Amino acid sequence: MTRLAIAGATGLVGRKMLETIDRKEIPFDELVLFSSARSAGQQVEFQGQTYIVRELTEDAAKESFDYVLMSAGGSTSEHYSPIFEEAGAIVIDNSSQWRMAEGIDLIVPEVNEPKLDRKIIANPNCSTIQSVVPLKPLQETYGLKRVAYTTYQAVSGSGVKGKADLAEGANGKAPEAYPHPIYNNVLPHIDSFLEDGYTKEEQKMIDETRKILNADDLKVTATCVRVPVQDSHSVHMSVTLEKEATVEAIQALFENDDRVVLIDNPQNNEYPLAIHSTNKDEIFVGRIRRDDSLDNTFHVWCTSDNLLKGAALNAVQILEQVMSLKGVK
Ligand SMILES: NC(=O)c1ccc[n+]([C@@H]2O[C@H](COP(=O)([O-])OP(=O)(O)OC[C@H]3O[C@@H](n4cnc5c(N)ncnc54)[C@H](OP(=O)(O)O)[C@@H]3O)[C@@H](O)[C@H]2O)c1
Repeated sequence: MTRLAIAGATGLVGRKMLETIDRKEIPFDELVLFSSARSAGQQVEFQGQTYIVRELTEDAAKESFDYVLMSAGGSTSEHYSPIFEEAGAIVIDNSSQWRMAEGIDLIVPEVNEPKLDRKIIANPNCSTIQSVVPLKPLQETYGLKRVAYTTYQAVSGSGVKGKADLAEGANGKAPEAYPHPIYNNVLPHIDSFLEDGYTKEEQKMIDETRKILNADDLKVTATCVRVPVQDSHSVHMSVTLEKEATVEAIQALFENDDRVVLIDNPQNNEYPLAIHSTNKDEIFVGRIRRDDSLDNTFHVWCTSDNLLKGAALNAVQILEQVMSLKGVK
């Protein structure tokens, strides 16, 4: 008897998780949907059944679940994930709360596997997930020396409130999710600022890239930018490799690797685009060029749906990975 719960089932990511569980035919006997008191009582239709969303409480978290997909923000996860864990559940958490903690696995199934010292597994930052997948074959084949990221992140990365700021900003409404209008604007600011001038989002990309790729000495830098795009993040990477490479060899590497999809025909205006990535599971790469300003360095452009591979899909893939390690799926 497998008991599965989604905490934050009424959110943007939670709803994508439900769709993905259905598409991937994740096996379960009982499914419980949690939200805050605000949405408790809402009805959700799923696989021909009506589910009533329940308020997440300490007593509810002590019920014995096998698997919990947490998608309800950092402070909710900080409080409830250990309660679910203590009661025996494997918790896959979408927030940044646990990602860098000792003993917590930070997982992208195409790249690494959980050790399960703790039963809380962290789902990485959205831009980091789509970036480490193409970085992995480069690391395996050439070794990595340095990665410099610039991101172009969609408003759905800020949940329901981010989408509302873009939509309502077009009608002149003042922003609520962001410190400045996102409509007709570009914000070089995601999450709060740290003392050194970087943002937390940038620091997450730096730290999480090293942890997932198991490369403590990798030089990484990041500039994270919010753009007025509904869905799908775009990331530019300038990647310095250990061993000599060529543009053609990197294109061939990506072409033959089923973890990414190469679209690199600039003469025909063909390259990865946010609008083509939305509602797709794949990570798209292209615009492979030499960065002549540094030795053995290459530009890579990468797009992916932040709500799918950047959040819900990666979480469900971790669930599949754990189920398969336990012989369930
Ligand atoms: N959006 C993305 O691209 C993205 C990517 C990676 C990770 N994430 C992470 O995923 C999580 C969810 O993000 P989202 O974009 O789906 O946000 P969202 O649309 O604002 O949804 C938040 C969800 O959390 C629930 N929630 C809030 N406080 C709660 C509490 N105290 N107890 C139980 N449930 C509570 C909300 O329930 P109510 O309906 O009752 O408010 C709602 O279901 C966050 O941790 C976020 O950082 C998001």
